[in-house]
Amino acid sequence: MPATIIVGAQWGDEGKGKATDLLADTTDLVVRYQGGNNAGHTVIVGDQVFKLHLIPSGILYPNVLPVIADGVVIDPKVMLEELDGLQARGLDPFARVRVSGNAHLIMPYHRELDLLIERRLGKNNLGTTKRGIGPAYADKASRVGLRFQDLFDEKIFRQKLEAALEHKNEQLARIYNRLPMDVEEIAREYLGYAERLRPLLTDTTDLIHTSLEAGKHIILEGAQGTLLDLDHGTYPFVTSSNPVAGGALTGAGIGPRHVDRVIGITKAYVTRVGAGPFPTELFDEVGERMTDVGGEYGTTTGRRRRVGWFDGVLARYANRVNGFTDLFLTKLDVLGEFETLKVATGYRYDGQVYEHFPPHQSIFHHAEPVFEELPGWGSDISAVTEYDDLPRAARDYIDVLEEQAGAPITWVSVGPQRSQTLVRRDVPLVPASG
Ligand code: GDP
Ligand code: IMO
Ligand code: MG
Repeated sequence: MPATIIVGAQWGDEGKGKATDLLADTTDLVVRYQGGNNAGHTVIVGDQVFKLHLIPSGILYPNVLPVIADGVVIDPKVMLEELDGLQARGLDPFARVRVSGNAHLIMPYHRELDLLIERRLGKNNLGTTKRGIGPAYADKASRVGLRFQDLFDEKIFRQKLEAALEHKNEQLARIYNRLPMDVEEIAREYLGYAERLRPLLTDTTDLIHTSLEAGKHIILEGAQGTLLDLDHGTYPFVTSSNPVAGGALTGAGIGPRHVDRVIGITKAYVTRVGAGPFPTELFDEVGERMTDVGGEYGTTTGRRRRVGWFDGVLARYANRVNGFTDLFLTKLDVLGEFETLKVATGYRYDGQVYEHFPPHQSIFHHAEPVFEELPGWGSDISAVTEYDDLPRAARDYIDVLEEQAGAPITWVSVGPQRSQTLVRRDVPLVPASG
């Protein structure tokens, strides 16, 4: 059976955790393909809130195997804390989670350099999550990274660590005036994690392909979002991996022909955490209310998220670079607060109107959104359970977003719970058997 990719269509935090969890009930594997513990995916089941950073959102179904594939970067200390936390809550992550030996490790010097680089940038900093993500991916590209499999071969681990530290310590001392890091100390810490992590080490390429060949269904769960993509996002205000659908192929080791659904997760408005351009950003009391009503505070860092109106240009762009078969619209309930809603249909810059994502960063940085105004519905829709029971204005708003994005909206979420999801088009991921 073909695979389904779940991708953030904006700047992250679109509700990928909720969507993945909801759609995972009929799947067999949920695979994280990029990013690391910069991600924070919230899954709410009843009165239980789970904030997942590295562990795929399929963990809550006993029938699902959560897989961490080659394209992910792993901080082993953080991963163990997360596994222990889930175990303490009655799940069995040590028996189920599978991790690729090719996934790269986030080392203590990556975390330290993430902090130092940001500090050195001063007011031009990116506002990273300070989890060491950028430096870890940089080492991967420079071919001096350590991988998950290295934890289980002490000799190789030490050799690679020594080689890496020689260079890192020079950097730490000469550029940043910091004390050097000690090979022994890091080796002791990391090799100490090996025993507990060994059962997770898996040939995930084989697992994924054996599953596909056996007719099983796979969800590939993206972290971050399209506009944070290293190649296709708002560079340099991006993360250091490829959240887009293409990244799912390289990150998990599958080909385009293995995939038949690409689901873009998008909020009914836009948020961004960290620095960088944001054309529809709100700085007024409407924005304040959107942040508060939407509970827009980072899942990983607790930072207040910037908010703005839905941006059709970005939605069209995300559709282009991912090729969405479906959109999963989230947080529509939050807009019940507002009398009038705005949707950006284009950007104005230097006397010209851009319908598509502009080719040059300066245009995007200075773009003035061209807004279409729509009436709000001004009521609480969080208890609605059937799409047709939504107020007329809400359905009209959804139609406009669909037209702007150019991809069909299949699900509409009106609250964080699994049950607060409306099915607008009945196209199940896995055909019902029998
Ligand atoms: P992710 O990183 O894409 O998984 O998203 P986050 O979990 O970081 O942020 C999304 C937040 O919105 C979480 O707190 C979710 O519980 C919440 N959420 C998801 N869908 C909805 C929705 O339809 N309505 C409301 N009010 N909250 C939602
Ligand atoms: P999820 O998976 C929102 C942002 C950071 C910063 C930039 C680079 O929960 O959607 P990094 O630490 O990755 O080098 O930071 O990317 N960022 C996210 N923003 N959601 C995320 O993940 C993010 N992961 C990174 O705020 O602007
Ligand atoms: Mg998040």
